Amino acid sequence: MSDILVHTEAGVSTITFNRVDKKNSITAAMYAQMADAIEQAAADNAVRTVLIQGDATIFSAGNDISDFLNAPPSNESSPVFRFMRAMAAFPKPIVAAVCGPAVGIGTTLLLHCDLVYAGDNAAFSMPFVNLGLCPEFGSSMLVPQMFGYHRAAEALLLGEPFMAEAALEIGLVNRVVPPTECNAIAQTQARKLAAKPLSALVETKRLMKKGLQPALVERIGEEGQSFGRMLREPAAREAFTAFMEKRKPDFSKV
Ligand code: COA
Repeated sequence: MSDILVHTEAGVSTITFNRVDKKNSITAAMYAQMADAIEQAAADNAVRTVLIQGDATIFSAGNDISDFLNAPPSNESSPVFRFMRAMAAFPKPIVAAVCGPAVGIGTTLLLHCDLVYAGDNAAFSMPFVNLGLCPEFGSSMLVPQMFGYHRAAEALLLGEPFMAEAALEIGLVNRVVPPTECNAIAQTQARKLAAKPLSALVETKRLMKKGLQPALVERIGEEGQSFGRMLREPAAREAFTAFMEKRKPDFSKV
């Protein structure tokens, strides 16, 4: 079965991470499938909302680290950048259901969702610095805006996980729910949105994001340049190799 499942019903296009044995870490092929699904959802008038979900135990462990090591994204047409562009520009509402770990882009993609429901086992983290990297997907701009600077510095410089209740307090999630009910609750909310007039949804989202969008697109590009360079540098190579070898990284020489 595919690592990304896409199912459209009642105006909701549901994208499910389906690579649980690898903690739903995201490969280039998966980014391409998600970009396709989001682009199709944007173009299809029968789709009013996208829902992104994992299962009750794991949302996503972020980018596949073996891909980072062996086939890092090389330019702006790489699937990860296509996915980011499609999601950041998506004109209709996006809902997410998050249970278990949400690492790296597993957390930063939530900044581009309109409604986020979290299981009480959700653990969010943006460990870019720990991997010799910098923030991506606009998170260097959106996290300070949402969290306040000092909490953003804790999340992005220390890279420590924070749990669902903290995410609720910050405003990253709308509601904390039992993990076994999370996907169903998010689906219900997505269907409520899908029953509303599409033009009103699209115009309201556009107005709420107006002013933010040009700066966000520019920041995603600038982060992408730095991130792409840093992926190839010794600190990140050591972090990825250490993860694959199941040992602690040694940054003493980098
Ligand atoms: N890329 C590639 N493989 C990954 C992965 C990733 N991002 N995250 C997990 N996996 C794989 C593990 O290598 C392991 O594979 P194996 O069974 O073949 O050995 C399997 O998924 C299970 O992972 P494991 O670490 O044993 O699960 P856990 O429950 O102990 O921990 C996480 C879960 C998500 C906390 C942990 O896997 C993790 O920290 N992953 C890396 C997250 C990361 O740094 N992502 C990049 C962000 S930019």
